Amino acid sequence: MLVAPSILSADFGILAKEVVSICEAGADLVHVDVMDGHFVPNMTIGPVVAKAVAQSATKPLDVHLMVTNNTFFVDLFAPLKPKYISFHYESENHHHRLAQKIRDYGISPSIVINPATPVNVLEEIVKYVDMVLLMSVNPGFGGQKFIPIYDKIKQTKELIEKYNPSCLIEVDGGVSDQNIEQLKDAGVDIVVAGSYVFGHKDYAAAIKSLKV
Ligand code: DX5
Ligand code: ZN
Repeated sequence: MLVAPSILSADFGILAKEVVSICEAGADLVHVDVMDGHFVPNMTIGPVVAKAVAQSATKPLDVHLMVTNNTFFVDLFAPLKPKYISFHYESENHHHRLAQKIRDYGISPSIVINPATPVNVLEEIVKYVDMVLLMSVNPGFGGQKFIPIYDKIKQTKELIEKYNPSCLIEVDGGVSDQNIEQLKDAGVDIVVAGSYVFGHKDYAAAIKSLKV
């Protein structure tokens, strides 16, 4: 299991130090939650702060866009050269075009669905992305209760095996040592964990507990 701590739960007063700490503690990716106050009822990290994160990070960035104007935000964040840019199925009309735009920047495109969005909407786009991100909370805030989406993970796995076997599955929201084994068994490759990792005194121990 790869682990992508979400810096949304970090102490922003010492953000650079926090980013260095999680990278040293064994993070595989640094998850950056971008919210615009329109698609979700919160605002978080813009490109100026994300640039500082990128400069401190020794692991690749995993940018999660929760915005209505995806094209605008892809252009803002692409210069930071993240490994992934994830965009929401629900906020985009032209999925193939956006996936290709991200790929043209040399970045892996990823598509996200909310907990209430069925997996079958991914059937046509899954061939064109490198990762599917399944939300296990409604996006907007860290520290929410995990919604059991295990059946959706299994359905996504079947879709991936059929159309794009190298595509990865990431799960985001409410991940902890309480659900990590079940997530692994269902077929998840990467977990995002915010409050669980940053709520722990020992980041390395927290990350290790998720590497099942
Ligand atoms: C939620 C964000 C998540 C969030 C995860 O909108 O996309 O990445 O930071 O935080 P936890 O792990 O606390 O649910
Ligand atoms: Zn996220």
